[in-house]
Amino acid sequence: MGKATEAIHGHEFRDEVSGAFIPPIYLTAIFEQRGETRLTDRGTELKYSREENPTVRALEKVIAKLEGGSDALAFNSGMAAISAVILGLVKRDYKILVPIESYGTSLELIQSLGEKIGFKIKLSWPETEAIIADIVSEKPDIVFIESMTNPTLRVLDVSEICKVCLEEACWVIVDNTFTTPILLNPLKYGSIAIVHSTTKYIAGHNDVVGGAIVSNESYIKYFWDWRRMLGSIMQPFEAYLTIRGLKTLNIRVERSSTTAKVIAEYLSDHSRVEDVYYPGLNSSPYNIIAKRIFQKDLYGGVVSFKVKGGRDEALKVLRKVKIIKPSPSLGGPESLLTYPVISASRYIPEDARRKLGITDNLLRLSVGLEDSEDLIEDLSQALE
Ligand SMILES: Cc1ncc(COP(=O)(O)O)c(C=O)c1O
Repeated sequence: MGKATEAIHGHEFRDEVSGAFIPPIYLTAIFEQRGETRLTDRGTELKYSREENPTVRALEKVIAKLEGGSDALAFNSGMAAISAVILGLVKRDYKILVPIESYGTSLELIQSLGEKIGFKIKLSWPETEAIIADIVSEKPDIVFIESMTNPTLRVLDVSEICKVCLEEACWVIVDNTFTTPILLNPLKYGSIAIVHSTTKYIAGHNDVVGGAIVSNESYIKYFWDWRRMLGSIMQPFEAYLTIRGLKTLNIRVERSSTTAKVIAEYLSDHSRVEDVYYPGLNSSPYNIIAKRIFQKDLYGGVVSFKVKGGRDEALKVLRKVKIIKPSPSLGGPESLLTYPVISASRYIPEDARRKLGITDNLLRLSVGLEDSEDLIEDLSQALE
């Protein structure tokens, strides 16, 4: 089935008694145990909602299908999913390679766990060639990358990185939050696990925090155990909202990507804008890779740009926007404007931030689902 169809029907829920086919919210912590073992379709025992819950299970089926994985696990945040994936794989004598431009809290988590557990960390320059060179020379056991970096939107060639990792026998985990399964399916290139902050495009409405891991059965059991031990399963109400939001993923990603391109072109021509970062622009150094690995000729809904005049001028834009809300996060109907140096990039050391181009005048716009004319008018009045 196509992804639009899978996103709607992939949960497979059907109540034979009532004929209902929309997954309900199983607000229950416990399930009856009268001697016989009640198994879920993945063979685990259904007894306690810290381990399994039918609403959460329905969501997991949809996410697994959209990513082309054999199974998925839903978590109470993206960071909970990332914690479980790292803890599920890492050992004391391992080395993890992670690009220096990664989501700040992921970097902080990997560095903090590295200090406690003793595994080594190699911070790589966030470009495909540099990462591949480090994989060959440093021989890491695990590579943790984001399909599109944040906030400068460098597109990594996930297919090439996975190929080299297969040759070098190391595991690749891809955070596919920015690209979503609509643009990219890293499992098909050989990545062993995908993580998502479902808070973003997957749930898609800026009203629910969550996360997911998609992988294959042999790995899922390790991540399942860590979810159980950490107690970080998604709750049923959040799973219900996420199932609901996910049904429109395809049209939301199409719409925000189309509007983002229009806005990136508008900003490129604006006299008060110094630079625009968007892989869908022909002028972007990442346009060729993106065209090759992204599906449907779409480039995502996030655009970053630098305001001429430095920090104060950028902060003025942040204060002046009206429809666009100055707020962290991305992937919802409301367009959001973020100041990366104090949000997602604050854990990147200052000198690295400067080299990466994450300067005081950089803003990141998550393009929502509003009319493009209204967003352009809002940006125009804020810039002027
Ligand atoms: C790329 C990426 N990964 C992971 C996370 C963490 O997700 P959450 O905030 O749902 O814990 C974020 C959050 O912004 C993110 O942008």
